[in-house]
Amino acid sequence: MAAQVRFQQSGNLGWITLDNPPVNALSQPLRAGLMAALEQAAQASGLDALLLLGTGRLFCAGADIKEFSAPPMAPALPDVIAAVEAFSKPVIAVLHGSALGGGLELALGAHYRIATTGTSLGLPEVKLGLLPGAGGTQRLPRVVGVPKALDMIVSGAPITGEAALAAGLVDTLYEGDALQAGTAYALELLTQGGGVRRTGERTAALEGNDPQAYFSEQKVSVEKRFPGLYSPLRCVMAVQASIRLPLAEGLKRERELFMECLQSPQRAGLVHAFFAEREASKVPGVTADTRPRSVEHAAVVGGGTMGVGIALCFANAGLPVKLLEVDETALARALQRARDTYAASVKRGSLSPIDMEQRLGLIEGVTDYAALAEVDVVVEAVFEDMAVKHRVFETLDAVCKPGALLASNTSSLDLNEIATATRRPEDVIGLHFFSPANVMRLLEVVRGARTSAEALATGLALGKRLKKVSAVVGVCDGFVGNRMLFQYGREAEFLLEEGATPEQVDAALRSFGMAMGPFAMRDLSGLDIGMAIRNRQRQQLPPNYPLPCLLDLLFEKGMLGQKTGCGFYRYEAGARTPLPNPELPALLQAASRQQGVERRALSDEYILDRTLLALVNEGAKLLDEGIALRASDIDLIYLNGYGFPAFRGGPMFYADTLGLGTVMERIEAFHRELGAWWEPAPLLQRLAREGGTFTGKGASA
Ligand code: 3HC
Ligand code: NAI
Repeated sequence: MAAQVRFQQSGNLGWITLDNPPVNALSQPLRAGLMAALEQAAQASGLDALLLLGTGRLFCAGADIKEFSAPPMAPALPDVIAAVEAFSKPVIAVLHGSALGGGLELALGAHYRIATTGTSLGLPEVKLGLLPGAGGTQRLPRVVGVPKALDMIVSGAPITGEAALAAGLVDTLYEGDALQAGTAYALELLTQGGGVRRTGERTAALEGNDPQAYFSEQKVSVEKRFPGLYSPLRCVMAVQASIRLPLAEGLKRERELFMECLQSPQRAGLVHAFFAEREASKVPGVTADTRPRSVEHAAVVGGGTMGVGIALCFANAGLPVKLLEVDETALARALQRARDTYAASVKRGSLSPIDMEQRLGLIEGVTDYAALAEVDVVVEAVFEDMAVKHRVFETLDAVCKPGALLASNTSSLDLNEIATATRRPEDVIGLHFFSPANVMRLLEVVRGARTSAEALATGLALGKRLKKVSAVVGVCDGFVGNRMLFQYGREAEFLLEEGATPEQVDAALRSFGMAMGPFAMRDLSGLDIGMAIRNRQRQQLPPNYPLPCLLDLLFEKGMLGQKTGCGFYRYEAGARTPLPNPELPALLQAASRQQGVERRALSDEYILDRTLLALVNEGAKLLDEGIALRASDIDLIYLNGYGFPAFRGGPMFYADTLGLGTVMERIEAFHRELGAWWEPAPLLQRLAREGGTFTGKGASA
């Protein structure tokens, strides 16, 4: 038997333990070990019941996701689970931590399930572009009924032990040691004469519903909720089989649909996104020995748009936070903004009034820096002005205790220069939150030239505590996300001057899967903000650096986007639906004339290449410069901060799927057609020549 699975026996009870750290993933050796252990248990003498347990912090996180890109290897998980279900004595799965995906499917093959209150039970395969492929779509509806099962399978969201008990997914809850609790439960079961209870022999319930009509409705609803996604609809089709077909045939149907999903490019993109998130926490110089400092008290300096949002992040994570403003009036405004934001959540029903008051209680408004003397971390979010930031950091250096993490939320200023205002540049980092900070998951953790590994580790640990997805980036204007966005937005604007309309560009990018088109986004954030950035860039970019001019024309007319009811689009009072701006055609003509460009018809494919490959080329430059550590970090940033569709894996992964040879050819064509700014990044040139990929390249060499 493989070392990853142990069978043990004491008296009339046997137990099989999964031991495959860190998450007991059902890799081939584990599956083989499980088969062998079942065999051993079947031959053991005097055995009356069998427990299934997982070692470590959880029962089992499901199939080994790394194996998806390799050819299937026997024994297949459905066969292992069938052997569990067929076992001649009662099998009890004893769950703790997590029972996810194949882990829950394994538990559904058992005859009984017990779990701790904190266990997370779910079938998250849909988030990886899959459906449960080891019986989950057939057995879960037989245990909890079709509607509940469908909800869990299509959303991929896990439920707690308590909810699982209420749904009938587990038979009882336990506390303490799994083996002891499992033993007690098994003995009690045997005393009461409880026998083998196979899930596959039950029928899936859909009470009071006409199955045909019910599933038709569900398909329509799923297509609406997950436009463009491949696997959710197949989840519904698989669950439908559970009420139409006996188990064996239902499993066959599930397998076919699972294989279709497995082979889809969306699965590859979503699995890439899963690993990108985990990879990002591995940072050169930060090792297992690098101890993050403890953070129990926080402060935010500046209570504007970002400062308040960041303070809410701390309060949401249960951390007391002092919010510092310049005077009492500004402070009152900031605290009111915090209250209003929570009140809106209460109104929406996503926060209880009690939680709102509790969280507000964690935010203490202050105007005196002396109040920050004992905090463990300060995040500065004052005006984007180097002189102001310098004054703030000098003061923080004077008042904060040694070892406090001094973070700036600057989006464009040089962090290294900010750090010179202190005598402790090793404690200075960037924590670049995205707006609205309490909603957006992305956090760029900026490593300055002198930031210590310990400070960086503290920033990363804090990001995790705030439930952010963090990526470490180096210092440059715009860091990774906004520097790439500049190229993307500029190309989009050039396209308008060459012949496209905002409607066409936005629609092309939305049908690619972007959450929002670039022009609807510009109108949302305000063209005045865009102009301020553009004016700053004009001062910094080399003279004659080509920039589009349409933004200037709109700005001159006072068309600032949603806030003025007109920008690239027109908006009815109080509405956010973009309508055609009747003045835009004339402005487009004027912009084209000003740039000396003859307007022409542009295809959607061309629009996608111009905008998306601009992202890719800039991303490759960031890798060349070491600003981004790895291509998957760039993907993570775009997936979590910029509405890039997860099923495409991110811009760099998308380039890999196109083939870097193709990407190179198209960029070279743009270079010839448009000018020097399209020069292919050296890394792209090299990888295209060598037939490599950004993803395969790993950490920048
Ligand atoms: N397969 C392979 N590796 C896995 C894995 C899996 N199912 N789940 C987690 N890992 C790895 C992670 O990549 C990470 O590796 P690293 O240390 O080398 O980076 C390590 O395990 C620890 O994972 P996390 O950092 O995510 O640990 P957390 O404690 O934060 O979270 C978890 C634990 C909630 C279990 C989370 O890892 C998770 O959600 N895992 C994926 C669960 C999932 O999607 N299961 C379905 C798989 S598909 C399936 O089962 C198909 C079946 O229907 C046939
Ligand atoms: P804001 O103008 O809304 O707020 C700034 C606040 O700082 C004001 O309330 C002001 O009273 C306060 N302030 C100014 N000087 C201060 C001082 N010396 N001490 C204490 N408070 C002071 O600005 P916003 O948008 O919140 O931006 C803040 C920082 O966050 C900037 O560095 C900006 O670049 C960055 N940022 C902004 C994003 C955005 O979308 N707005 C996104 C990411 C970063």
